[in-house]
Parts: sequence; C-alpha cells; structure tokens
Amino acid sequence: MTEAAAAATAEPLIRLSGITKAFGTGQAAFLALKGVDLEIQAGEFIAVMGPSGSGKSTVMNVLGCLDVPTDGSYRFRGIEVQQLSRDQRARLRRRHLGFVFQGFNLLARTSAQENVELPLLYRGESAADRHRAAQAALAQVGLTGWEHHTPAELSGGQQQRVAIARAIVTQPTVLLADEPTGNLDSARSNEIMELLWALNADHGITVLMVTHEPDMAAYARRVVHFRDGRIERDERNPHPTALQRPPAPAAGTGAA
Ligand SMILES: Nc1ncnc2c1ncn2[C@@H]1O[C@H](COP(=O)(O)OP(=O)(O)OP(=O)(O)O)[C@@H](O)[C@H]1O
Ligand SMILES: [Mg+2]
Repeated sequence: MTEAAAAATAEPLIRLSGITKAFGTGQAAFLALKGVDLEIQAGEFIAVMGPSGSGKSTVMNVLGCLDVPTDGSYRFRGIEVQQLSRDQRARLRRRHLGFVFQGFNLLARTSAQENVELPLLYRGESAADRHRAAQAALAQVGLTGWEHHTPAELSGGQQQRVAIARAIVTQPTVLLADEPTGNLDSARSNEIMELLWALNADHGITVLMVTHEPDMAAYARRVVHFRDGRIERDERNPHPTALQRPPAPAAGTGAA
C-alpha cells in the first residue's frame, strides 16, 4: 500500500465528531461548543484561533480529557474516549497528553527540576529515573544549569520553558498549549514558538496551540478558526515561519 493510501485509510490520531459542550442546565444552559468536527493526524502542528469566548479553551480541555463533552464523539487512536472509565481516561491523559498554560502553573517554592519531575512522581517512577528524565527535558528546552532555580528566580520565558519541560518529560504524543505565549513579550514568544516547532519537527510531538496572535499562529502548518462554538475555517499554512529562514546560518551574515 502506498503511503497516501495508508494515510487515507488510517484512523487519525484524534477525531472529534459533533462535539457539544453545555455549561449549566435548563434555562441557564450555555452551549460553549455547538457541534465541532475535527480530525488531527499524528505529527501535525495546529494553531487554534478565534475571538474570546469562541470555545477554544473548552475544546482544548475536552481534547486533554480535563473536561467531558455533553454530546458527540471523541476518538483517540480509534478509542472512544467517553466509553473509558475515569481511571482509564486519567491514564490516557498521563500517558499521551502534555499541557502548557498561559500562566505557567509551576509550584512556587519548588525547583525547576522538581517541577519537571512531578508528572513522573505521579506515575510512580523511581527517583533516579525521574532525575534523569527531568534533566533531559530541561536540556531539551535549553535550561541546563537552571535546574535548581525556583520560578521566582526565572524570567517569564524561562518559567514557560520549565512548564514545557514538565509537559514533555512523559514523552507525550500530543502537546496541548493554551495561549502559551500570552504572558510573554514578542522576543520571548518567538523563542517559545521555535521550541514548539522543534518539538514537533524533531521529536514528532503533535502540537495543538491556542493563540490570539497571528504572528504566533504563523508557526503552525494548519490554522483552525473558532467562532461562536463552531469551527469557522480550517486552513493550511504552506509557509510556516520556521521554514522561512535561510537553510544554513552562515557565519557573520543573517539579520540582526
Ligand atoms: N466552567 C464554565 N462555566 C460556565 N461557562 C463557561 C465555563 N467555561 C467556559 N464557559 C463559557 O464558554 C464560552 C467559551 O469559553 P472558552 O473558555 O472556551 O473561550 P475561549 O475561546 O478560550 O476564550 P478566550 O480567548 O477568552 O480564552 C465562554 O462564553 C465562557 O464564558
Ligand atoms: Mg481560552
């Protein structure tokens, strides 16, 4: 079978069909998602955009098994997520999904190293394994040498790197990032986007990222636009930012 034929018949990594989400009940119910259909293939890098309140975080929470939809189907690698028990869903989350949020969400009086080890502690891994994996994850985000600093001793960009290291230390299949650059200036934002690009391109992690900024969305290969609880547009980006640089940096040249 050709690669194209295999891709055509293979179950996508993620398939949402007719996903709805209501908050509240009866007269007061509010439909935050009104029937979302979305297929995500392994290895994609997708930006999610749309106005405030359009359902972006709600759909991320559903995808991340942090919230359950009211109706519709969510299949992960062909598995119907709603039919899993709470424990099985938690296991799927711990094994396959990594999260990064706008506010970093690090433990304050805890070193970068210990913050990154936390998901492995929950998985019951040995101290030696946790230590090794956390060091590798911190190296991957460019924080070697900062392991013993607490969040207060790190810049916003560095804190978000720690949060990304914590999200990838379990080697997730999918990284879900909800406005990861929302609290950062544009230089720091671009560094975080370069990092997400590398995790996707070099490590094959599927990345789904919410952003309000077109410059950040321009890193993604696909941009999904939400409006009023629905997908309004779903478009390919043939020229993601990271591919627009000159191929090999020559010494002494290149823009400042
Ligand atoms: N727990 C909740 N209870 C009630 N309503 C909620 C809850 N969570 C979200 N909503 C509502 O659902 C709608 C979609 O919210 P959501 O957080 O998904 O928007 P968003 O697209 O992420 O917006 P933003 O860009 O501001 O983060 C909003 O109107 C919001 O008020
Ligand atoms: Mg949101």
